[in-house]
Amino acid sequence: MSASNVIVIDHPVIQTKLSELRDVSADHRKFRELLTEIASLMVYEVTRDWPTMPRPVTTPLERTTGKMLAQQVTLVPILRAGLGMADGVLRLLPDARLGHLGVYRDEKTLEPVPYYQKLPPDIAETQVLLIDPMLATGGSGSAAAAFLKKAGVTAIKFVCLVAAPEGIASFHRQHPEIPIYCAAIDRQLNSVGFIVPGLGDAGDRIFGT
Ligand code: PRP
Repeated sequence: MSASNVIVIDHPVIQTKLSELRDVSADHRKFRELLTEIASLMVYEVTRDWPTMPRPVTTPLERTTGKMLAQQVTLVPILRAGLGMADGVLRLLPDARLGHLGVYRDEKTLEPVPYYQKLPPDIAETQVLLIDPMLATGGSGSAAAAFLKKAGVTAIKFVCLVAAPEGIASFHRQHPEIPIYCAAIDRQLNSVGFIVPGLGDAGDRIFGT
């Protein structure tokens, strides 16, 4: 399914793991394992249109020309919960560098509160994957994307696990050019800003807090 710059990766293996991860009985160990696996699987689809360049290879039989990614990759997890997807993405993109953006959501106002930023110096020349399991009101993702743009980044993809329609709309009002990749678009936000049916508070479930 794809609607206005949103790509839902509805692969059966991802959907199976997502259902296990949503299950309230998944403890933090299980939740982390599943999140890592899903993040790895999502990388195939998220990186599908990245440019490649020729790479000479000497096989045991002869010289030939293969391909390799044309640009460096930077992974930017939104702290804390984005860290839960980082290892899975790094399994497939082990040369990626990491930037960190700390943003938490004020529990009363639901407004994003940035508290930490550390990005690689040449991030503007790289392909950037902004990662966070949840896109709820869209405030945290939008604030993080705005910070990346200020740093000169132009090639950004937002990769999340579960997105609310309200968050997608809000994010794309501010960043229409940034594609959102997710494993599911859930029904809505509830009265306290949680995604339903959702998976609870991803940060708390990852870290056991
Ligand atoms: C959660 C989640 C996102 C944000 C989504 O983080 O990981 O970053 O909320 O909500 P939004 O789209 O309405 O901004 P949280 O603020 O709970 O911080 P944490 O990752 O440290 O737990």
